[in-house]
Amino acid sequence: MRWPKPRAPTLSTPLTSRIEDTRAEALAALQAARSAADLEKVRVEYLGRAQGRIRDLLAALKGLPAAQRPEAGARINALKEALAAALAGRAAELGRAEGPGARALADLTQPGLARPVGHLHVITQTLEALTEVFGALGFSAVEGPEVETERHNFDALNIPKDHPARDSFDTFFLNCGLLLRSHTSPAQVRVMEAQSPPVRVIVPGRVYRPDAVDATHFYCFHQCEGLMIDEGVSFADLRAVLAMAMEGVLGPGTRTRFRPSYFPFTEPSAEVDVSCLFCQGSGCKVCKHSGWVELLGAGLVNPAVLEAVGYDAERYTGFAFGIGVERLAMFRYGINDIRLFLENDLRFLEQF
Ligand code: PHE
Repeated sequence: MRWPKPRAPTLSTPLTSRIEDTRAEALAALQAARSAADLEKVRVEYLGRAQGRIRDLLAALKGLPAAQRPEAGARINALKEALAAALAGRAAELGRAEGPGARALADLTQPGLARPVGHLHVITQTLEALTEVFGALGFSAVEGPEVETERHNFDALNIPKDHPARDSFDTFFLNCGLLLRSHTSPAQVRVMEAQSPPVRVIVPGRVYRPDAVDATHFYCFHQCEGLMIDEGVSFADLRAVLAMAMEGVLGPGTRTRFRPSYFPFTEPSAEVDVSCLFCQGSGCKVCKHSGWVELLGAGLVNPAVLEAVGYDAERYTGFAFGIGVERLAMFRYGINDIRLFLENDLRFLEQF
């Protein structure tokens, strides 16, 4: 049998054991540390550049025979890295233990820590209020796509290509021939294409317009469309539904006022105002001293729209309306700048 050749002893035992002793002492000191200041003392003692014990070990390499230096040097470097990692680990542990959670655990009589909980955005809350109020009046809420066809946003709503009313519903056109809807009215067309009368829906959702941004305009905002189609639906029904809905959303005693207006997809058409919440109609800053605030457009569905979706315009009539949701929220809460809704400033959002 051949015995392996005995290897030359690699390290002088004194340095090997000094390295291991240093490791054991350093780890013990880290465990004993109770604060960041303790940790800093340990760091300076072992890893300090000027007088640290690792530095002393490296200095001691000089006293070794040249053949043994590389291995000893490698061991010392490994120890140095291990200590640095252990120091960071202990620092993290102490950080956790010193945090507010640790204090609360240590003293069960202290008040608990409130966890910040978010809530629905004021616009979402407004949409939910509308959905609830119109739900009580028999309207179900549906959604339509924000990316629309020209037919749904314009043509089927009686706004042909050459019609000047295209300007007031101008929007962002996409390269593929589609566009971002400039109102929720295209959803009227989609609902009617998908079902036959009777229809009673609202369509809350986001719309887009290339408007210059200021305190009352933004390129993206919300509307809540409404559509009711049946035999014998009249302007009186429109007035009754909107009067009840506005009282539901803004509170009892809210009055509505209809002013003649024009939309290609309704005939006759109206702008609808509500009496000012803040001055009950006597005039104040919010209503610009008129006593009224304009919140929506409405009217009886133009027979041309009914025909565009294949409804029998002789048999069915209906009404439609479109509520400006930001406008409603601004009025309801006395908010004076539409940009606040999208700035994500918690100081604003937390108020609602
Ligand atoms: N779509 C119209 C607008 O954006 C509002 C409206 C909807 C008017 C339905 C009448 C009927 O201004």
